[in-house]
Amino acid sequence: MSTAAETPVTTRTTVVPPAPPQEQIAARSAPPSPQRPSPRQGASDTLITPNTQRATEIHTELSTEKSIVTIENFKLSYGKAEALHGINMTIPIGKVTALIGPSGCGKSTLLRSINRLNDLIDNIRLEGRILFNGQPIHDRNVDVIELRKRMGMVFQKSNPFPMSIFENVIYALRIGGEKRRSVLYEVCERSLRGAALWEEVKDRLHQSALGMSGGQQQRLCIARAIAAEPEVLLMDEPCSALDPVATAKIEDLIYQLRGKYTVVIVTHNMQQAARCSDYTAFMYLGRLIEYGPTNSIFLNPHLKETEAYVTGRFG
Ligand SMILES: Nc1ncnc2c1ncn2[C@@H]1O[C@H](COP(=O)(O)OP(=O)(O)OP(=O)(O)O)[C@@H](O)[C@H]1O
Ligand SMILES: [Mg+2]
Repeated sequence: MSTAAETPVTTRTTVVPPAPPQEQIAARSAPPSPQRPSPRQGASDTLITPNTQRATEIHTELSTEKSIVTIENFKLSYGKAEALHGINMTIPIGKVTALIGPSGCGKSTLLRSINRLNDLIDNIRLEGRILFNGQPIHDRNVDVIELRKRMGMVFQKSNPFPMSIFENVIYALRIGGEKRRSVLYEVCERSLRGAALWEEVKDRLHQSALGMSGGQQQRLCIARAIAAEPEVLLMDEPCSALDPVATAKIEDLIYQLRGKYTVVIVTHNMQQAARCSDYTAFMYLGRLIEYGPTNSIFLNPHLKETEAYVTGRFG
């Protein structure tokens, strides 16, 4: 299924697909189909340029999902420069959606738009709508603080507050006025367990969070985000500064969070997208190019631009 927000492509060509990039894929969900259809449908014969106008290739599986966030013809400009050119997509509830694409294609801009973090940047201009649980997030009566509580964010660089591990985790509860020690400790333990950090820090909860390793600090930030009980967790390259062991822990965690939370993760790491996401959205030059189940995007993309990117031929 394609959404026809922009002029659809009319030129199609037959492309003989290269061997599947099996070595790049380690998806833990349903095993990928060993066979790629040949010839593939939907491949265009010209690569995308900044002026290319065409519909996003959205795989039919997405229409069977219930969505928590709906993005409708969303455009965002920084000053005069348009960074997002009419994005149409739905984020399925309880699933992990990965945003991939070359540097500068607009992944962080789109992610920050979902919980209105871009509001903090001067001189931005928006068009279109983003709905959260059916409610337009830019409506005047929307409480932005509340919105950001319901849509937590984890950044590329961990940002523990200069306070104890315990106080970091329960920060949202403190702000909310929660005083009961039993509740605070229970949430702290549950969140640290959820972030796969409890065993490592249970004996030093009241020590400064700044004394933790980089990987621990990033998991602490995830624990802090979980403690606020968001419905959606937005993660912008959460593992880019971490070693493989810490990365594996966070990927496991993301994988386990599905079902309970909706996760949107920006990543440059193809293996990571393949390992921990259910759906993958490929962006390029401020547009959403193709969006579908992760296995399909990596093993059987409909568009040759997507294939070129996921097989490492550009970007
Ligand atoms: N605060 C800003 N002010 C002006 N332009 C910006 C700002 N933030 C991003 N941009 C521009 O918007 C475009 C998209 O940037 P964005 O950071 O969303 O890309 P990205 O896909 O996240 O890239 P990366 O993978 O390098 O993080 C780029 O051209 C970038 O220069
Ligand atoms: Mg970015």
